[in-house]
Amino acid sequence: MRLLLACALSAPSKSDLQQADIVEVRDPTRRAALAGLLPSLPWFNDAPSILVFCGNGRRLRQCFERRGMPFTNEHLDSFFNATVDASLVLMNSIRAAAALGLVCCPISILRNHPDEVAEILELPRHVFPVAGLCIGYPVLEGRVVPRLPLSLTCHVDRFDDSDSEAQIASYDQRRLAIEAHAARVAGRIEPTTPWSMAKTDQYALPQRDDWGRFVRDRGFGTD
Ligand SMILES: Cc1cc2nc3c(=O)[nH]c(=O)nc-3n(C[C@H](O)[C@H](O)[C@H](O)COP(=O)(O)O)c2cc1C
Repeated sequence: MRLLLACALSAPSKSDLQQADIVEVRDPTRRAALAGLLPSLPWFNDAPSILVFCGNGRRLRQCFERRGMPFTNEHLDSFFNATVDASLVLMNSIRAAAALGLVCCPISILRNHPDEVAEILELPRHVFPVAGLCIGYPVLEGRVVPRLPLSLTCHVDRFDDSDSEAQIASYDQRRLAIEAHAARVAGRIEPTTPWSMAKTDQYALPQRDDWGRFVRDRGFGTD
């Protein structure tokens, strides 16, 4: 784990500000408390390792305080930089775990309960959860989830998604066929909902609409 954490935290960091921290949740009581927030993920607490990636705007502010200087960058970009740093460290952790033969699942649903997570992990002001990560040993063979085509998501010289309607329709078909085949092979029920419909269903109700309030409560300026 130390090697994995060290590799993860070697990720590039905006202006070398190093605004990402990792909480490794070992204490059974805290793990159970986090798991209690996530009834839709009954396997969460079975993971051999649970990490929570945090954006940390506290350290930089402490450096300013140490010098008796006012913090002059209290705006949304400061919050955003810490989020990006934590995201890169999260991704590096996944790659490091893969190199060790381990598998991972990021868990952003923790942010449905940001105040409770902050309390359980004793996160101070200006420190916020970006995502959790469950790490474990592979049981099943992994599979690659087909992504949107590069012709839609990669642009040359200028952004152009004028063909997105047709591209998404074709992706829906292709993905459904691949997933139906995988389900048939595994003896599972074949999926019938295409990706674009599943995603609109998933996002049909507001989610985390008090995240802005939480971020402001943590002390970040959001203008
Ligand atoms: C930032 C982030 C947050 C995620 N949060 C969750 C989560 O809360 N619960 C979950 O089951 N999967 C979560 N995932 C996993 C995604 O659902 C998964 O990556 C996606 O379905 C694509 O599958 P693949 O990673 O196997 O290609 C998350 C992934 C990312 C990158």
